[in-house]
Amino acid sequence: MKILGLIGSPRMGGNTEKLVNAILDGAAEKDVEVKVYHLAGMDLKPCKGCMSCRLEGKCIIEDDMQELYGEILSADAIVIGSPIYMWEITTLTKTVIDRLIALTRWQPCARPGFPSLLNVKTRLVLAYTYGNPDPNNFNQYFKYMEGLFSFLGFDVQKSIWVSGTIGPDDILHQSEIFEDARVIGKKLYLLSNSEHT
Ligand SMILES: Cc1cc2nc3c(=O)[nH]c(=O)nc-3n(C[C@H](O)[C@H](O)[C@H](O)COP(=O)(O)O)c2cc1C
Repeated sequence: MKILGLIGSPRMGGNTEKLVNAILDGAAEKDVEVKVYHLAGMDLKPCKGCMSCRLEGKCIIEDDMQELYGEILSADAIVIGSPIYMWEITTLTKTVIDRLIALTRWQPCARPGFPSLLNVKTRLVLAYTYGNPDPNNFNQYFKYMEGLFSFLGFDVQKSIWVSGTIGPDDILHQSEIFEDARVIGKKLYLLSNSEHT
């Protein structure tokens, strides 16, 4: 089975990367292929709204998203991590989410929903870090993001976040979060693995 990690922080080695890696560590059993992508190092262009994905069945933008489409479609579980920038996910993360429109079968005005090309069992964990010390500051936003990903066809398992992280290693002062993250990863493995056996 395959678990994919997408890290949407422009800062390499920062809090978000550490949080995503802890979740992936929890899922890293012998029979698991773990693949991690730092979105910051990739050629990812914004969706241009050309709707070619509707006409041609795939996104026509030739960049690294083509590789990510394959990874997303073949993953059993995905962990998406983003810092909060100006009350929301980073532009890098949003760019990938916008481009997921190519994995939907939505036809403008034809149907109310966006039936997805995703495997309905693709499990998803959302991971965030942010500087504000209040651990409840973005609760509503995190719920909203879970709604979006459910709508896109993911089986949203869990959101996890760490508040009060400014310096790149600040998360290390909240060591209890790493155990929580590993437990989430282990659960992802167990759920996904039960379908492979
Ligand atoms: C441009 C920018 C905008 C930010 N906006 C917010 C914000 O709106 N709310 C917040 O609590 N923290 C904000 N932060 C702090 C980051 O979310 C926080 O430091 C996070 O842990 C960074 O993740 P990283 O270590 O993976 O880069 C911002 C940081 C930057 C650089």
